[in-house]
Amino acid sequence: MAVRDIIRMGHPTLRTPARPLTDAEITSPDTRRLVDDMIDTLHHAGGIGLAAPQIDVPVRLAIIEIDPEASRYGDIPPMPLTVFVNPRIEVVDEASAGFWEGCLSVPGLRGWVERPQHVRVSARNLAGEPLELELRGFLATVFQHEFDHLDGRLYIDRMTDPTRLMFEEEFEQFVLHGSG
Ligand code: NI
Repeated sequence: MAVRDIIRMGHPTLRTPARPLTDAEITSPDTRRLVDDMIDTLHHAGGIGLAAPQIDVPVRLAIIEIDPEASRYGDIPPMPLTVFVNPRIEVVDEASAGFWEGCLSVPGLRGWVERPQHVRVSARNLAGEPLELELRGFLATVFQHEFDHLDGRLYIDRMTDPTRLMFEEEFEQFVLHGSG
């Protein structure tokens, strides 16, 4: 287990579609070690999700964990640490809502992104078993953000209003606390 370096916007791996894991790879010790490193890296960085390409491993694997204590995201549903291998995401309802997103690969910034708020996810777990989830609201946003990484996309690609991209300090000063 080890904390790996998180690559940042500008690194070509973040812009390259990742490849699926084969059945044999999913249950392999190498993949288990990769996931252990991703968990260490996520906990060290303090985020809520990490995709393998963010540590420069171009495979379709992501982890998501929302600690109920994660107060900086406000009143959001918790999600125990879950591993998603070769995930597919399907929009159930196109009705969108926006959230301020951040990304460990785009450190120090926040941007307002509108995404569909009702999606269905199918994936495999590390045992190779199928995993199905239906997600609404903020969780639907989180999953779309993480899985976009597997297609070489960043949240800034989804922004429609570039004036709503800002540094965290200014975000806190002018948006969260509204002293402007
Ligand atoms: Ni991200």
